Amino acid sequence: MSLTSVQLAPKLSTASIKKSWDVYTAFDWPETLPEDNWYMSPELMSLYGTEYFDSLSEAQQKKLSFTELCNFFSLVLQGERPLVQGLAHRLYLKTTEPPVSDYLHHFIDEENKHMIMFGMFLNRYFGKVYPEKKVTIPREYAKGEEDVAFLCKALVVEEYGEYYNVVMWHDKSLHPLVSEINRVHHFDETRHLAFGRARLVETFNEKSKNWSSDELQGFRDWLAAYLKSSWGDYYNPTMYKDAGLEDGYNLRQMALEHGRAHREKASEVLVNLLVENQILEHAPEL
Ligand SMILES: [Fe+2]
Ligand SMILES: [Fe+2]
Repeated sequence: MSLTSVQLAPKLSTASIKKSWDVYTAFDWPETLPEDNWYMSPELMSLYGTEYFDSLSEAQQKKLSFTELCNFFSLVLQGERPLVQGLAHRLYLKTTEPPVSDYLHHFIDEENKHMIMFGMFLNRYFGKVYPEKKVTIPREYAKGEEDVAFLCKALVVEEYGEYYNVVMWHDKSLHPLVSEINRVHHFDETRHLAFGRARLVETFNEKSKNWSSDELQGFRDWLAAYLKSSWGDYYNPTMYKDAGLEDGYNLRQMALEHGRAHREKASEVLVNLLVENQILEHAPEL
């Protein structure tokens, strides 16, 4: 039997205390970053595998790897902002068990440090953070659905990001600062993911049993669309433009059409969790 989120929480808190780190001293920030370097693993880059990508010079590919990395760091940072907001909102609610509130403090602390870390990298070497693209359309929720949706959104940003973290942490061809940031992020994220997965399944089971079949279908439609639209953030036309490439919107379209297998692979852990627990009926189109 796997542990419940309430059973996990004190173990995760202990681990967070033991592995606590200082964002202001954890990294050596070089004055500048060399242009002639890879910053995102090529196989993670949105245009990888297209004829267009092969037609670029290595210098252009490396430049694009930098703006794609900056887009990745930006979208994770932008996803962590509402995550921290939602976690803070849940502190000390009657429905939040005391050990869970204790752990949420660590969760918030770690996400705050991640935002500082990404913000420092982006402002120092890129001079900006890409803005958030998501438009939130207000909608009616079934009872308890907002909680389930919050946990889903948290897991989407963390599971997609985790796939990239692990690949880049192990990629020796990348600039060492980039591998290190991904490594540090990964170690905090494994705890967030353990908590988030358990909490989502429990909350979904508890709340959804009172939903009508229309409400359940409405939630599942929203979630499938959310999984797909969250991938859209990885194909930012401005990052192509910032790498000196023309026609960002067409490049985005080309990359989206070409990248389905990559998106399915990178989402596999999350989609399996959702389907195995009947949060989704089947794997969505990504
Ligand atoms: Fe994070
Ligand atoms: Fe996280």
